[in-house]
Amino acid sequence: MESLPKIDLHRHLDGNIRTATILDLGRQHGIELPGTDLESLRPYVSITEPAPGLVAFLEKFRWSIGVLADAEACRRIAFENVEDAKNEGLDYVELRFSPWFMAEAHGLNPQAVVEAVVAGIDEGRAAFGVKVALIGILSRTYGEDVAWKELEALFTCRSRLTAVDLAGDEVNFPAGLFKKHFARVRDAGLHVTVHAGEAAGAESIWDAIRLLGAERIGHGIRAIEDPVLMDFLRERRIGLECCLTSNIQTSSVPDYASHPLRSLLEAGLLATINTDDPGISGIDLDYEFRTAAPAAGLIGAQIELARRNAVEIAFESWNLK
Ligand code: ADE
Ligand code: ZN
Repeated sequence: MESLPKIDLHRHLDGNIRTATILDLGRQHGIELPGTDLESLRPYVSITEPAPGLVAFLEKFRWSIGVLADAEACRRIAFENVEDAKNEGLDYVELRFSPWFMAEAHGLNPQAVVEAVVAGIDEGRAAFGVKVALIGILSRTYGEDVAWKELEALFTCRSRLTAVDLAGDEVNFPAGLFKKHFARVRDAGLHVTVHAGEAAGAESIWDAIRLLGAERIGHGIRAIEDPVLMDFLRERRIGLECCLTSNIQTSSVPDYASHPLRSLLEAGLLATINTDDPGISGIDLDYEFRTAAPAAGLIGAQIELARRNAVEIAFESWNLK
């Protein structure tokens, strides 16, 4: 098992801001926070008990995103994400971010956010030698018009991106609203992954594939409700970026024991184990392998299979295989 590369394919860098950095940036920019040290701040910036749903979970980002007061703060958190990946022993990580979400609290220029993130990732790669692929996010929650602006900002650094993703409120902003955006993404030669089948059902996964051209699905757990879709995902080799603890915390799944990951693997789907928002969730990839996956009923060979699947569906191969 240890000879397999350690890979996280689904990690939001804006969902992985260190508590110490939130404190530091808060002090630096005179932003009042609900806690003044690590212990008192932690419950406000990470999940302590499941949120009632995905949108409530996303509200937990308020304080951490709220300290992104300038481009330098965005560069710093991108850099620290690469350092965290190194410290966790990751060989390859796909980091994703929504420039609009990061820009919103302080009215930053989204293009400046993209440039700062790219700079922080470049510095991190040089300093720590981790293989990092960058994924730009369109936040569906802001609607179609903002998604065009977000895409425009991302495309100013298009050659630095590996893929584009769609994230945010899946129930109220279905994939069909973003068909034209993703046609542009595909025309630009970028890969496509889409959050689907997390807060909404199997139909949302069909839409992500048929309407947006998704090659991989973020979460995708509700595929379990549709046997025809299961066959389709297996035959087309469309991978699932599963995130166990996140699914409990967003109340997408009631508990680890009920999580469908094991059944998805047993059905031969290319399902993987990832972290989603490690800072918000208070976890890392080792926790997902060692604690969450066994709690979800996976035996050692199934965890290993999920790790091999990650090598298989990684957007960049870069000698991982
Ligand atoms: N943004 C950050 N985490 C997310 C999730 N789990 N689903 C949708 N959008 C997100
Ligand atoms: Zn996600």
